[in-house]
Amino acid sequence: MATASNSVAQTQLDIRPMTGAMGCEILGVDLAQIDDATFRSIHQAFLDYSVVVFRDQELDEESFAAFGKRFGKLEDEPFLPHKTETPGVYYFRGAGGKKLSTQNLGWHMDHSYQKNPSLGAMLYALNVPAAGGDTLFSSSYLAYEYLSEPMQAFLEDKIAIHDVLHYGMESGHFAISEVAALERLAKMRQGFPQVEHPLICAHPETGKKMLYINKAWTTAIKGLHPKESKAVLDMLKEHSLQDRFQCRVRWHNKSLLIWDNRCVQHSPNVDYDEPRQMLRIALHSDWVPGT
Ligand SMILES: [Fe+2]
Repeated sequence: MATASNSVAQTQLDIRPMTGAMGCEILGVDLAQIDDATFRSIHQAFLDYSVVVFRDQELDEESFAAFGKRFGKLEDEPFLPHKTETPGVYYFRGAGGKKLSTQNLGWHMDHSYQKNPSLGAMLYALNVPAAGGDTLFSSSYLAYEYLSEPMQAFLEDKIAIHDVLHYGMESGHFAISEVAALERLAKMRQGFPQVEHPLICAHPETGKKMLYINKAWTTAIKGLHPKESKAVLDMLKEHSLQDRFQCRVRWHNKSLLIWDNRCVQHSPNVDYDEPRQMLRIALHSDWVPGT
């Protein structure tokens, strides 16, 4: 269970845990004007709870970017086409439309198909539907902790393959019967070769062990026969997404959400049919899982 930090030289924050597993809301903070002590407390909450939400924030692209830069360098988004005029800040329009979308990436970790997956991401709601479009999170710490000891030992030295094409083939974003879609997937493959990450690794800042897996892009376990690999991965994916490891963020205009992409899977729910506009930032990390 997540616990608040006892670190010193920080501002006391009003932290409200979302569930017994993970995630919190922080009340009474104006992110457009925070001092260093307050930021240290927010950063500690980010490490403690993995998912942090602030409500009723008055931010523009510049102040949103400034808050993001306190965590790290802003990262390019290879698959988001709509850049704002502020470097590193993207418009993020949800997959919902005039009817419920068939596109649903589902559970994933951002950019795990890269050598350096994102540190985290931030979303700021500009105009969101009154209901629907919640974002779900599941803790990779708890997924590790609640494996049996023999299974933890079995996985300890196993290496997994992460492959961006899994997204293209499975998400519904591409009609893979079309030549144009296949050509896009081929281009994606050129830009993003498969990468290898350990299945068990330690978070680079908290040092806590986690099951480093996500449903979208973890596609195989090295050294196992394909049927063995599929059976183990299917079991681990199901295990890692149990309700008791999760929290769920409901959106309102002017809500800001930040999550630690290194230790959670997330899933955007597409149960809405109205426009949904947000600003988005991806945070870069030099961390290579397993190091
Ligand atoms: Fe994502």
